Amino acid sequence: MRIIRSIEEMQNYSTDLHRAGKTTGFVPTMGALHDGHLSLLKHIRSKVNSAIMSIFVNPTQFGPKEDLARYPRPFEKDCALAERNGCDILFSPSSDEMYPEGFSSYLTVENLSTTLEGEIRPGHFKGVATVVLKLFNIVSPDIAVFGQKDVQQAIILKRMVKDLNLRINLLVLPTFRESDGLAMSSRNSYLTPEERKDAPLIYQALRKAHDNYNRGELLSQKLSEQIQSVFKSAHFFRPEYIEVVNSYTLAPVELVSNKTLLAVACRTTQSNTRLIDNVILGFGVF
Ligand code: PAF
Repeated sequence: MRIIRSIEEMQNYSTDLHRAGKTTGFVPTMGALHDGHLSLLKHIRSKVNSAIMSIFVNPTQFGPKEDLARYPRPFEKDCALAERNGCDILFSPSSDEMYPEGFSSYLTVENLSTTLEGEIRPGHFKGVATVVLKLFNIVSPDIAVFGQKDVQQAIILKRMVKDLNLRINLLVLPTFRESDGLAMSSRNSYLTPEERKDAPLIYQALRKAHDNYNRGELLSQKLSEQIQSVFKSAHFFRPEYIEVVNSYTLAPVELVSNKTLLAVACRTTQSNTRLIDNVILGFGVF
C-alpha cells in the first residue's frame, strides 16, 4: 500500500491510473477504522482495479465545542488495517495541505443541511460537503462509497453529486452493526461500560418501529412514540431528536410510506457522546 500525503502527488497518481485505463474506487474516512469502514473498502475492492482510502480528520466539520481534539487518530493501526483489507493507496493529507492560509471557498447544500444533524451541528454539513468535494477533485474516483449510518450525509452528498454533475457513482451501503445491533462508529470508543450496555436500545427502538410499520402502522406520531417508549428504559442516554422524514427531502411526514426515514440522535450522560442511527422503511432509497 502506498501512503500519499500531498495533493499534487495524489492527483498525478490518479491521472496516471485513469490514463492506464484503470478504474478507481474511493472510501473517504476520518480514520479510527472499524469493521464498517473495512466492509466499505472490501466492497469497493471487488468493483475496481485500484482501491483508494483517505484518512483526514476534517476540522471544518467540527463545531467549536465538538470533539476535534479528542477524535481518535490511531494512524499506524489504521494503515495496517487498510493494507490488510485491500487498500492500494492511502491518502492522508495534513490540515495545512487541505486548508492552506487564505482558504475561503465552501460548499453549502441548501435545505438538506439545516435539519436533523444540521440543526444540532450548524455548519457541519458545509464542512462535510466542502471536504468531500475537495477529496473527489483530488482523487477523481469512478466510484465512492459511504455508509448508511450517516444517512443525512449520504443524502446530501448524493444531492451534491447530482447538482454539480460530478461523474462519480456514489454508493451507500447498509449500516454495519455490532452483534447486539449498535451501529459501528469511531465514536463508540468514547462510551463508558454503562453507556455501552444501554446503546443497543437505540437500534432496538428503530427495529420496533419498523416492525410496527410492517404490521400496518402508518402514523409517524405513533412510530415516534414507540421509539420514545423504548428509550425510556435507557439510563445513560437521552434522545436529542426522533424524526420521521421523507428520505429525499428530509421534510417531516405525518403518514409514512416505504421511503420514509426514521432517524434518531441520542446523547450519552457520562461521556457526552452523540450516537446516531436510522432505518429506512420498506425498500431503501439507495
Ligand atoms: O463520514 C466521515 O467519516 C466524514 O464525514 C467524511 C465523509 C470522511 C468527511 O470528512
